[in-house]
Amino acid sequence: MAPYDDFAWFYNRYWNEEFHSLAFPILERIWLARLGPKGHPGGRHGPHILDVCCGTGYLAGLLTAAGYRVTGVDASPRMVEFARRNVPAAKFHVGDAARCRLPGPFDAAVCTFDSLNHILAREDLEAALRHTAASLRPGAPFAFDMLLEDAYQTHWGESFALVRDDHALTITGSGYDFRSRLARCTITMFRLTEGVWRRSDVTIEERCYTPEEIGGALERAGFGELEIRPCPARSQPLQPEQDPAAGDGADIKLHDPGEVAVFARSAAASRNSCATRGASNPATRAEPAQRCAARAWGER
Ligand SMILES: C[S@@+](CC[C@H](N)C(=O)[O-])C[C@H]1O[C@@H](n2cnc3c(N)ncnc32)[C@H](O)[C@@H]1O
Repeated sequence: MAPYDDFAWFYNRYWNEEFHSLAFPILERIWLARLGPKGHPGGRHGPHILDVCCGTGYLAGLLTAAGYRVTGVDASPRMVEFARRNVPAAKFHVGDAARCRLPGPFDAAVCTFDSLNHILAREDLEAALRHTAASLRPGAPFAFDMLLEDAYQTHWGESFALVRDDHALTITGSGYDFRSRLARCTITMFRLTEGVWRRSDVTIEERCYTPEEIGGALERAGFGELEIRPCPARSQPLQPEQDPAAGDGADIKLHDPGEVAVFARSAAASRNSCATRGASNPATRAEPAQRCAARAWGER
């Protein structure tokens, strides 16, 4: 069972809108602006986007509504089930981004919300980036975000609880181990269905990669011209209207207080050409990312 399977219902209900309301305007500016003309809303025409680790399809829904075609891939069958229900116009596949060949060719790719940090082994991260690169047309833009060390050292250990009449959840960050660079949090969930309370416990693990590791992996996968950009912090409480059942509003504070964006583009004909251009390596531009919690956006 994939770690997000049991979390999927809660994720679908609570974890999409806040993040994407901040991320989508950035994506529009730094990534979608580089794509060709959109199709009609509804997702039958227009540039074809690969959403790696697509979750429950919230971003796919925004992109489809904006006139793009979307194919999503996620390791969790339950997350994909929600995605298919949420966005019937998009296509979704269950698969491990590090292991499966992604369909293609796509005009762009995206991977949001720490998803690449969920890939714990460096060689798997590289494989996921390689598969993504292989599924893209030459020159196609790729945008993604990752947390850097400050994010794990600051808010990762915070706890969070949500209690409603028919569901409850606690998240306990069990901290960040700077030696292994692994961060863990435990999610305990209760749901009342058909008169019976059901409990499930999930541990989510993430790996912190340095900007140098991310840059190296991107370069080896064939991405280049990387930039890191600051992104807005996201720590606003979830608004009551996002959860009609919650009269008082849930105080969801996510774990990263600040974000940066990384940007990459490779030469169309020469996939590895960026390796010789020092200025294109995010390590050379990563200072803000090292200082604050970070998200990275890349472009092939
Ligand atoms: C924090 S969620 C983000 C979901 C979505 N991208 C979003 O922005 O809402 C992380 C997602 O990555 C997926 N995931 C983690 N490791 C994966 C892997 N190796 N291959 C594919 N999906 C993976 C999880 O199942 C989960 O849906």
